[in-house]
Amino acid sequence: MRRKLIAANWKMNGSRTANAAWLASFDGSRAPCDVVVCAPFVYLPQVLAGLRAAEAGAQNLSAEAPGAHTGEVAGEMLLDLGVRWVIVGHSERRMLYGESSQVVAAKAARALALGLRPIVCVGETLAEREAGRTLEVIGAQLEAVLARCAPAQLLAGALAYEPVWAIGTGRTASPVQAQEVHAAIRAQVAHADAAAASQLRLLYGGSMKPANAAELLAQPDVDGGLIGGASLQAAEFAAICGAAG
Ligand code: 13P
Repeated sequence: MRRKLIAANWKMNGSRTANAAWLASFDGSRAPCDVVVCAPFVYLPQVLAGLRAAEAGAQNLSAEAPGAHTGEVAGEMLLDLGVRWVIVGHSERRMLYGESSQVVAAKAARALALGLRPIVCVGETLAEREAGRTLEVIGAQLEAVLARCAPAQLLAGALAYEPVWAIGTGRTASPVQAQEVHAAIRAQVAHADAAAASQLRLLYGGSMKPANAAELLAQPDVDGGLIGGASLQAAEFAAICGAAG
């Protein structure tokens, strides 16, 4: 049985005041699942200090070792703070910052090599879905990751299916659509390592909210969620965690 994992992705949001209110309100010990909160780099110390019964995550890391990479953050630095999780290959990184599947795979491999737990994201655009290319696109994104990371290593983290057309749009993949892709992802991982695939947690992300979380999380291959907008309000995020029982 895979224990569910609900992760908040605050994206580029937050302030010391807003974060303090969020942290005072949220108590992960009431959640029936594992909980991770992925905050902007600069707020990670605040989140680490204030989180109760939940772990902190970053939203990105450099694929490189510490050195001459102005503006980047090395995985070693995240570990130095006590951060255990990191989102890798979010569609906003891929689309807005030009991260190729090879770069994403390199970041996932680097995170794993350091002992960080990566949440590796894949997902198709609306045009790709409408062209009937969803599984092909996700298959290629996943293949790049599997070329660098063994499934048994990925068990330390999770994979996240985030259809780009559902992110921040209020449009959610139906439970059937999510399950179809999650099952395909698990089958592809199983091709490399069936035992690891059966244990690997596959998260859904894309306009998940209290009203739709339970039915998405009830799908057999949906093992959790990666929550953007609805994670900014502690009460809404807690309600989603509550649906992961
Ligand atoms: P929304 O929940 O705002 O659609 O964002 C999903 C996401 O991108 C989480 O990483």
